[in-house]
Amino acid sequence: MTSRPLDPVSARQRALASIEAEHKAFDAALAGLVGQLGFVRAHAVRPDPGLFERSLTYVATFMDRFHHRNEDEYLFKALRARTREADGLLADLQHDHARGPGFFRDLARTLAGTRTGETRFDDFADLLERYAREQVEHMRIEGTELVPLAQRVLKASDWQAIDTAFRLNRDPLFGGLSVVSGPVRRP
Ligand SMILES: [Fe+2]
Ligand SMILES: [Fe+2]
Repeated sequence: MTSRPLDPVSARQRALASIEAEHKAFDAALAGLVGQLGFVRAHAVRPDPGLFERSLTYVATFMDRFHHRNEDEYLFKALRARTREADGLLADLQHDHARGPGFFRDLARTLAGTRTGETRFDDFADLLERYAREQVEHMRIEGTELVPLAQRVLKASDWQAIDTAFRLNRDPLFGGLSVVSGPVRRP
C-alpha cells in the first residue's frame, strides 16, 4: 500500500496538536500527583510511596525521553535555523529540559527516603509541588511564546519533520489524548 504525501498545512496542524496533547496529558498527570499530595495532607493518611513512584516514573520518563527530546532535536533546532529571535527563549527552555532528569532523581531519592525515615513526606511533597509548578510554567511559556513564534517563522518542510518526529516518537498511552485549542492553564 502506498501512503499519500502529507499536506504541509496539515503537517503543521498535526505537529502543534501533538505538542498540545502531550502538554495537556502531562498537566493532567501532574495535577493528579499534586492532588494525591493534598489528599494525604488533608486526611492525614499514610502515603503510599509506590503509587507516587509508579506515576512519577511514568510521566517523567515519557517527558524526558520523548517530548523534550522531540522539542530539542526538531522544534528548537528548526527555530534556531530560521531565526535568532528565539535564542534566549530557547536557551532557557532547553536548560529546563536538561534539568528534568536531575529533578526526577532528587524526587526519587527523597521519596525513597520516606520509606526508611531519612526524609519526611513533606520534603517530598514540597519538591513535587515545585517540580509541577515549574513544569506547568515551562509549558505555559512554550504555548504562549514559542508556539506563536514557530507559527510565524517555520516553513512547511520544518513542520513536516516536526510532525513526523512527534508521531513516530510518542508513547501510545501518554500522547493519545484529543486536542483542545489554547495553552495549558490551571483554573
Ligand atoms: Fe519543553
Ligand atoms: Fe513541551
